[in-house]
Amino acid sequence: MNKLANIREHYHKGTLSRSELHNNPFEQFNSWMDDAIKAQCNMPTAVTLATVGKDGMPNCRIVLLKEVCDGGFVFFTNYNSEKGLELKNNMAALNFFWPELERQVRIRGIVEKVSSKKSDEYFQSRPRESQLGAWASNQSEVVENYDELLRNYSRLELKYKDDIIPRPVHWGGYIVKALSIEFWQGRDNRMHDRFQYNFENEHWNIRQLAP
Ligand SMILES: Cc1cc2nc3c(=O)[nH]c(=O)nc-3n(C[C@H](O)[C@H](O)[C@H](O)COP(=O)(O)O)c2cc1C
Repeated sequence: MNKLANIREHYHKGTLSRSELHNNPFEQFNSWMDDAIKAQCNMPTAVTLATVGKDGMPNCRIVLLKEVCDGGFVFFTNYNSEKGLELKNNMAALNFFWPELERQVRIRGIVEKVSSKKSDEYFQSRPRESQLGAWASNQSEVVENYDELLRNYSRLELKYKDDIIPRPVHWGGYIVKALSIEFWQGRDNRMHDRFQYNFENEHWNIRQLAP
């Protein structure tokens, strides 16, 4: 047997029942995020963002969740990146995995750009180095010469010296406005607990799914 097939996990850290669920999935999410932070999960805000390209081919990568508000989940990125192009169809899915708690949250929704004001505020809160990075790198484009990329960063450092660095127009936030959110808690014997919230007729309905 190959060594990967021999790696087996047992899930025993918790249970999730209908009676303990919040009626609102965002309250449920915030409570699980608080648990993940308290349990010192590694990078609790790291989330896999899935998109679909024009050709129908799925794609995914990690981004960092920065806010939960207005019925959605906010992250920041380069609007001209590959994900930015793929998000033009306004659809995305997110997946949080907190292995230390044996929990997963799956979200599907409609994507919008956040306001320029929100993007400006968040950009100005970032460390200067990250601000320069957003200007220096055309995210997802082919790098012909990495040294040139570093020189570009140094040129920008000199250009802005001690000045406030403005947000590039091609950099900002997206919000994934959730239509469906599933909470998964690992259980013994693969009898995991799964509860899915769906936004239907202006209301969040909850159903339990088979593991
Ligand atoms: C832990 C971690 C956090 C990341 N956070 C972000 C983020 O918040 N925004 C972002 O644009 N890329 C982030 N990245 C990089 C992306 O995963 C990805 O490489 C980049 O956005 C380019 O993706 P794209 O070519 O699909 O647009 C992160 C990567 C990791 C591993």
